[in-house]
Amino acid sequence: MRQPMVAGNWKLNGSSESNKLLIDGIKQGLGEVKKAQVVVCPPSVYLGQVNDLIDGTEILLGVQNVSEQVSGAYTGEISVSMLGDFSCKYAILGHSERRSLYAESDELVAKKFAAVKEAHLVPIFCVGELLEEREANQTEDVVARQIDAVIDLVGISAFKDVVIAYEPVWAIGTGKTATPQQAQDVHAFIRQRLATHDAEIAQQTRILYGGSVKPSNAKEIFNMPDIDGGLIGGASLKAEDFLAICTAAN
Ligand code: 13P
Repeated sequence: MRQPMVAGNWKLNGSSESNKLLIDGIKQGLGEVKKAQVVVCPPSVYLGQVNDLIDGTEILLGVQNVSEQVSGAYTGEISVSMLGDFSCKYAILGHSERRSLYAESDELVAKKFAAVKEAHLVPIFCVGELLEEREANQTEDVVARQIDAVIDLVGISAFKDVVIAYEPVWAIGTGKTATPQQAQDVHAFIRQRLATHDAEIAQQTRILYGGSVKPSNAKEIFNMPDIDGGLIGGASLKAEDFLAICTAAN
């Protein structure tokens, strides 16, 4: 059985004050969340603060991005070893905003994946197609290419205990969600792709859906057989909405 996960990707949002309000709000409703593992991914500068705020709760901590480098002259970067100073468990990798706005290639994402695994953190490895790629019937090709780039570098055994997030780029922040069936089809494809390498890892891998998940659509998306929860952007910034999405996995 795969435990569902709901992870909040706060992106470039937050302040000391709003973080505290948000975490306090999530804590208050956490008792209603029966099944899902709850993860928050604040901006890195707030990892220490959020780390302290969630101390003693079931809420887990993730980072939104990390360097593939260990240390040295890489201005502005943070390394996996630094994350070890917080109880940070997860690292979002290959988010489409990193791929498109910061030119992260499949190869760079694969190197980051390797660094994260080496540090015994868990990648939340994002894949997904652009609108024009979907319209050109290239969704499976794109997702396969993104996954294969990582498998080529680290091998399928490194996918043990990894979380994959399928986020169709056209659904991110647009209010336009993939239909549950559209999402399920791609999730099944991803699982099948992993299974061509290792059937057991394919069965165990949690695959989250991301892209305009809201309290009103979370349940029908999470009910699909290959969808194991969600990676939530906008709706993770409001405790009430985030909790409603978490409880949709009950
Ligand atoms: P939205 O939920 O705001 O569409 O963002 C999804 C996302 O990119 C999560 O990583």
